[in-house]
Amino acid sequence: MKAALATAYGGPEVIRIAEVPTPTPKSNELLIRIHASAVNAADWRLRRADPWFVRLVFGPIKPRRAILGVVFAGEVVEIGSAVTRYRQGDRLFGWTSVMKLGAHAEYIALPENGAFAPMPAGMAYADAAAIPFGFSTAMDFLGKAGMIAGQRVLVYGASGAVGSAAVQLARQLGAEVTGVCSTRNVELVRSLGATQVLDYTKDDLSAHRNGFDVVFETVGKLSFAQSIALVKDGGTLILGSDLPADMLKRAFSSKGGKRVKVITGTASGTAAHMQHFASLWEQKHIRPVIDRTFPLERIQEAHALAESWHKVGSVVITVP
Ligand SMILES: NC(=O)c1ccc[n+]([C@@H]2O[C@H](COP(=O)([O-])OP(=O)(O)OC[C@H]3O[C@@H](n4cnc5c(N)ncnc54)[C@H](OP(=O)(O)O)[C@@H]3O)[C@@H](O)[C@H]2O)c1
Repeated sequence: MKAALATAYGGPEVIRIAEVPTPTPKSNELLIRIHASAVNAADWRLRRADPWFVRLVFGPIKPRRAILGVVFAGEVVEIGSAVTRYRQGDRLFGWTSVMKLGAHAEYIALPENGAFAPMPAGMAYADAAAIPFGFSTAMDFLGKAGMIAGQRVLVYGASGAVGSAAVQLARQLGAEVTGVCSTRNVELVRSLGATQVLDYTKDDLSAHRNGFDVVFETVGKLSFAQSIALVKDGGTLILGSDLPADMLKRAFSSKGGKRVKVITGTASGTAAHMQHFASLWEQKHIRPVIDRTFPLERIQEAHALAESWHKVGSVVITVP
């Protein structure tokens, strides 16, 4: 099969398309023909070994797993002898798992109890591949924050993969959502359900001090002090992009005398998430945002866009 290999750490140029053996499913596994995937922050961070501790987990000198890609949309083409949940021809979307990766290829073998679910009828593979990363991350963090209907939620980085999903899910959960993005994305963020959109290139965020029950900083671009200032006393700050160095610094930072619950860490996707997103999509309550779609052969360009910090929603790759 064809796959995109990153056999060294570095820029997008380390990736090349090569022929590798097609996996053989074990008795509890499905062989999935991948039709679409996405190049997400997880992919470019692993490729660049950014942050450094990626090397502790994925290999000190070079990556132990050469095929990146944590999300997929595809079709079951073969099932192991013990598989009961799915059959040949089922269209599935979801996560491969951050440790396994492997979705930037024509095929992948995954255990049937993985973090994926059937795609709804009528959903395109490209749309399905644009959902898992941003929506699972947003759902997981909003859940941990205990967000409830009627709360005022601010999403910082509202046009990114996580931000565009967070705006839609918070709105769906009954929040009054304020999105923060740059000028060119204001209309998009409004169309996703934000009642108020602030433009970080023009608007003064300090005018909104103590204004929100939940502040979801999705991109790690706002300082801790600026983020805390936006949260009401007794509110919650989600730092979705917090790295270990930030966590250390934050441990010594002042909360300005306020009681604020700070949530950070790693979000994960589940099969239940995927079922939920399939249902929300069918009811037209959510829509994936796609910046651009590239064929697998042009995956270097997809990586370059993904790590630009100015993609809108997801960068999708199709596997023709
Ligand atoms: N904790 C976890 O488990 C977890 C899971 C997933 C992702 N993450 C992390 O979360 C972060 C975001 O991921 P993502 O995929 O959503 O990123 P992304 O899609 O690449 O984010 C791009 C967005 O960031 C916005 N942006 C760039 N500079 C900004 C600034 N100074 N102020 C406000 N917005 C700015 C851009 O908007 P404009 O173009 O309008 O500027 C763009 O739409 C990454 O660091 C990723 O590693 C963590």
